[in-house]
Amino acid sequence: MPCHVAIVMDGNGRWASQRGLARSEGHRRGKDSVRAVVEAARELGIPYLTLFAFSHENWHRPGAEVRFLMQLLHRYLTTELKRMMKREIRVVALGDVERLPAPVRRALERTVAATAENRGMTVALALSYGGRQEIVKAARRLAAAAAAGRISPDQIDEATVANELTVGGIPDPDLLIRTSGEIRISNFFLFQLAYTELYFTETLWPDFRERDLLAALAAYQARQRRFGALDGATAAPLSAAN
Ligand code: IPE
Ligand code: IPE
Ligand code: MG
Repeated sequence: MPCHVAIVMDGNGRWASQRGLARSEGHRRGKDSVRAVVEAARELGIPYLTLFAFSHENWHRPGAEVRFLMQLLHRYLTTELKRMMKREIRVVALGDVERLPAPVRRALERTVAATAENRGMTVALALSYGGRQEIVKAARRLAAAAAAGRISPDQIDEATVANELTVGGIPDPDLLIRTSGEIRISNFFLFQLAYTELYFTETLWPDFRERDLLAALAAYQARQRRFGALDGATAAPLSAAN
């Protein structure tokens, strides 16, 4: 079982337009997928689940769509809190959350604070998140610390950088799922995906349910992760003479 599954929840708009509906209907239905997948992951005992819900670049969408997504997020944060508590789910946020409208930010802060002691599973919500922006911020903080003499540049290693990037010591994702047939990262976890197994499915996010998560997990379990090294059990010797 992967320790950390990350999902790029894509295809809400196409799900709606295939049905002759407004894009907002796709987002609304996508919220049901979020609930279903969070609960399935919790039951499967996956410790960390990250959901890419709104990207840095998504701010460039039309104002009405952004407003709708923010309202939906606000509603999600307020209505799901009880379920999160019942299932002992800790919610954390990744991204430039200061950019979120004040009511959304407050609801997010409330949910994060109320669930902080839960130990059943961690759900990380990537909101106003961009991988490059996160790396730039980390570089800026480390440079400031070095300029102030708090660290020396040669003390900066992979762990130091990783600590500046993530909240709450979340490990790198083992599995990344992207729905809707797009085969790209779209500025999601750039540093963290170094050795993540990638899984792309044609299924649109509003149709994604527990069975689709199980299919992704089965694909993951069939992968052989080598991290650049050799798998002792299956590797042939380098030369015939040893
Ligand atoms: C994902 O669905 C939701 C967000 C990015 C917020 P989209 O809205 O990107 O749906 P498509 O890709 O247009 O179908
Ligand atoms: C990626 O989806 C962001 C989220 C799912 C939150 P997009 O729909 O924004 O990505 P592109 O534009 O197809 O790359
Ligand atoms: Mg999309």
